Amino acid sequence: MIEQPTMVKICDILEESPGVKTFFFKGNLQFVPGQFVMVWIPTLDEKPFTISYIQKDIVGISVLKRGEFTQALHKKRVGDLIGIRGPYGRGFDFQSGSNPCIVGGGIGMASLATVVDRLRDATIIQGARTASEIIYQKRFPEMKLCTDDGSIGFKGTTIDLLKELLKTQTFDKVYTCGPERMMYKVVELCKNHGIDCEVSLDRYMKCGFGVCGQCDCSGQRVCIDGPVFTTAELSTMEDFGRIHILKTGERVNIHSS
Ligand SMILES: Cc1cc2nc3c(=O)[nH]c(=O)nc-3n(C[C@H](O)[C@H](O)[C@H](O)COP(=O)(O)OP(=O)(O)OC[C@H]3O[C@@H](n4cnc5c(N)ncnc54)[C@H](O)[C@@H]3O)c2cc1C
Ligand code: FES
Repeated sequence: MIEQPTMVKICDILEESPGVKTFFFKGNLQFVPGQFVMVWIPTLDEKPFTISYIQKDIVGISVLKRGEFTQALHKKRVGDLIGIRGPYGRGFDFQSGSNPCIVGGGIGMASLATVVDRLRDATIIQGARTASEIIYQKRFPEMKLCTDDGSIGFKGTTIDLLKELLKTQTFDKVYTCGPERMMYKVVELCKNHGIDCEVSLDRYMKCGFGVCGQCDCSGQRVCIDGPVFTTAELSTMEDFGRIHILKTGERVNIHSS
C-alpha cells in the first residue's frame, strides 16, 4: 500500500456514456474488487474512485461528471498526469454464493464491474434514470437493464426488476452498489428472501486510510472497515440508509441530501 500519490500518465480514455469517462493508466496494483484509489489533481483536491477495470498492468477508473473535481478530470487528455494512492478499503468477499446477483444503480455499476469480471455467470442488473446513463453495455451485453423512463430495458427501478426476477429465480448472494436509498431497499428485500448481501457504501472521504474520521458510519470508518459491508454488519449501523456526514462534519438526513 502506498500513502504518497504516485503520478501516472493517462494512457487511454473511453467514453462510456455522455456523462461517464473511463481513464486508463499503467499500474501494478494488488487489488480486490470493491477497493478504491484516491485520485489527486495537484492544486485542486483528492477524491475516491473505484477501480473499474484491471488487466495485467492497465488500470481504469470510470468517472461520472458532477462537480469541480470530476469536471476537471473530464478535461484531462491522454498523456496528462494524475496522482494515485491506494488501493484502500475492504472489497467484496467471494467465499460464499454459487448463484449470485449483481445490482448496480447509476455510477455504482463502476464498483461492481470487476465483480462481474470475476463472476461471469452471475445475473447482472443495471438501473439508470434513462438509456443514455447506462454504462458498460458492450462490455457486459448479458446485463439486464432497467430505466425509470422505460427508454431501455424493464421500465422501473432495480428493486422492481429484482422483485420480478425473484418470482421465478433464486439467488444465494447479492452484491450491490448505487444510491443509498436503493441499496437500503435491496438489503431489505434480501433479508425478506433470506439472501446474503454485500453493499458498497459511499461516504465523504478525506484521508482514505482511517485517520481523519470523516467517513464515519455508526462507528465504522467506511474507508478501512468498508466500503463493502455485509447485511449483518449493516444491521448494527443505524446511519445506513439514514445519515450522511458532509465535508463540514454536519450530519444530514440522506433523504434531504
Ligand atoms: C469508496 C468510493 C468510491 C467511489 N467511486 C466512484 C467511481 O468509481 N466513480 C465515480 O464517478 N464516483 C465515485 N465515487 C464518488 C466520487 O468520489 C465523487 O463523485 C467525487 O468526489 C465528486 O467530486 P466533485 O468535486 O466532482 O463533485 P462535488 O460537487 O464535490 O460532489 C458531488 C457528490 O460527490 C460526493 N463527494 C464529493 N467529494 C467526495 C469525497 N471526497 N468523498 C466521497 N464523496 C464525495 C458529494 O458528497 C456529492 O454527493 C466514489 C466515492 C467513494 C466514497
Ligand atoms: S476518510 Fe479519513 S478516516 Fe475514512
